[in-house]
Amino acid sequence: MTKPNNPRQILVTSALPYANGPIHLGHLVEYIQTDIWVRWQKMQGHQCHYVCADDAHGTPIMLRAQQQGISPETLIAQVSQQHQRDFAGFAIGFDNYYSTHSLENQTLANHIYQQLKQQGYIEKRTIAQAFDPKENMFLPDRFIKGECPRCGAKDQYGDNCEACGATYDPTELKNPVSVVSGTTPIEKQSEHFFINLADFEPMLRQWVNSDAIQAEVKNKLAEWFESGLKAWDISRDAPYFGFEIPDEKDKYFYVWLDAPIGYMASFKNLCQRQGFDFNAFWAKENENNTELYHFIGKDIVYFHTLFWPAMLAGSGFRQPTGVFVHGFLTVNGQKMSKSRGTFIKAEDYLCHLNPEYLRYYFAAKLSHGIDDIDLNLEDFVQRVNADLIGKVVNIASRCAGFINKRFAGQLSAALDDADLYQEFLTQAQAIAQDYEQRNYSHAVRKIMALADKANQYIDDKKPWVMAKQAGQDALLQAVCSQGINLFQVLISCLNPILPLMGEKVARFLNTPLVWSPPPLLAHPINPFEPLMTRVEQKQIDALLACHSIEPAQPAPKPLEPIAAPVQYAQFSQIDLRVAKIIDAQVVDGADKLLKLQLDIGEAQPRQVFAGIKAAYPKPEKLIGQMTVMVANLAPRQMSFGLSEGMVLAAGAGKELWLLHPAEGAQVGMRIN
Ligand code: 2FM
Ligand code: ZN
Repeated sequence: MTKPNNPRQILVTSALPYANGPIHLGHLVEYIQTDIWVRWQKMQGHQCHYVCADDAHGTPIMLRAQQQGISPETLIAQVSQQHQRDFAGFAIGFDNYYSTHSLENQTLANHIYQQLKQQGYIEKRTIAQAFDPKENMFLPDRFIKGECPRCGAKDQYGDNCEACGATYDPTELKNPVSVVSGTTPIEKQSEHFFINLADFEPMLRQWVNSDAIQAEVKNKLAEWFESGLKAWDISRDAPYFGFEIPDEKDKYFYVWLDAPIGYMASFKNLCQRQGFDFNAFWAKENENNTELYHFIGKDIVYFHTLFWPAMLAGSGFRQPTGVFVHGFLTVNGQKMSKSRGTFIKAEDYLCHLNPEYLRYYFAAKLSHGIDDIDLNLEDFVQRVNADLIGKVVNIASRCAGFINKRFAGQLSAALDDADLYQEFLTQAQAIAQDYEQRNYSHAVRKIMALADKANQYIDDKKPWVMAKQAGQDALLQAVCSQGINLFQVLISCLNPILPLMGEKVARFLNTPLVWSPPPLLAHPINPFEPLMTRVEQKQIDALLACHSIEPAQPAPKPLEPIAAPVQYAQFSQIDLRVAKIIDAQVVDGADKLLKLQLDIGEAQPRQVFAGIKAAYPKPEKLIGQMTVMVANLAPRQMSFGLSEGMVLAAGAGKELWLLHPAEGAQVGMRIN
């Protein structure tokens, strides 16, 4: 690493993913964009911290946990692990990954709220909202469905119509139902807390006109100022999964209040572990000494350019140096869609493809603008193979063999063409500018032009011809050493994008990768190991075929009639037990069945064939889960084997959920 004279101190964040769903390729545009920038800054020798966290609060997370029969804490712990596994799979190098459900975040959220309150920025107002009388809870807009007031389309959410694009208030929906219980919501009043955004208007206008904001985003902000800044509702009523508002009863901070504070909390946690100075990055007086950048998608600009700076200003903290907004991802030109099989989860991608193909492809498409980027799968295969394998890796593989076999791995003492090497270093300076400005597509174009040049050099010199001629050894060594050295510059330029390949190359070149490296002369290299293989179409086909179903939100359904009454004595004849699923497999030749092995504390596990495959297409995910079985159902001989009981589930087909006992229930316990 080169040490600049004035190392910058930079804190970088990516948006915090919600803790109720998997990471998908749409998310990865941002994490890859940010990670490249952070790796680039670190390569320049700057002090750059990259923090993130799971966004763990809110109604959807509370309801998802309920639906799965687990506590929200258990859900967010599970999801956090999955998120971190997927991020690591794509080599996203966070310096800290935390959770908004943390003590640091609660302390900071309370502090910011109390500061805002003391300064008179918080006001109380009573508002009317949709309320589910059965579940005893207020309903966020997305939890109410009904007919669009404009076009009459059925099954539309409470805030906008997917059929005609109308936006409206949930109270305007016709025949509204609660998504949670299926009942008709009523209107109910309650007291809410608001931050009066208009109080911050002069400060916000000044800040958004600074260099902190991209030009396209400034235009959007001008529209928002034009239509007037509305007060922001920062409270939610119980039941809610979040932080209780200090000195209030049954009132919680709205998830979007404590989410961006999660950036601070994650950094605070890093400071506590590593001894960095929290105030250096957040105190008002350090605004011009250190840099703070938030990478976000264009859907959350309002929160990051209005609410967040207002919260920071109103509680005495500094403003962000920049908010970097990117566009959305489309796949084959369309919005990602489950039915088209283009809703691709990070986990599924990693089962079939090298993460660096995607890092490279996104980099080749990313600019500093907010336009959407398209993952065209045909272009992806073509581009990765042509550029990375056909151009870059090719340079090393054409030269390394000769150096290893003919010169015992020793590079020549002088370059064959020092001017060409210098030309590569000069171009690296322009590439540096592109990285700094997040114009990765320009950087990639320049790097590939250099790769073409390096290949052209080798084509012209024809080392394979020299190798067969007597007396050409010194020239052969110098030409191949030149090729390897040009390769070194290229790989150092690609290192922020391809850090895993960079590690392999550093081993091969027997030297750490640095920006603008001096040439390796009279230097021993290691045997060449394959750096990357070609993408095959069959890998893409396998990815698109692997389609794992996300548990759907429960759709409101009319209640099935309740069955005729039974006496307790009859009921108690059924012996229900807590069981642990110790194995789950698909059954060859059976469309609907899974073969389960259930531990209920007996010497041998019970084998049960259950018709639940449509809802659980990946049976291995059931292993380890607790469920409930009928333990005294007479065994039944099926063509696939003996079934020794039955598991209990709600629903049918794909919309089916296995029952899980609450946490703490032990294997074999009888259910009374
Ligand atoms: O839109 C989202 O996915 C949010 N979870 C992003 C939060 S970013 C930050 F403010 F916490
Ligand atoms: Zn409509």
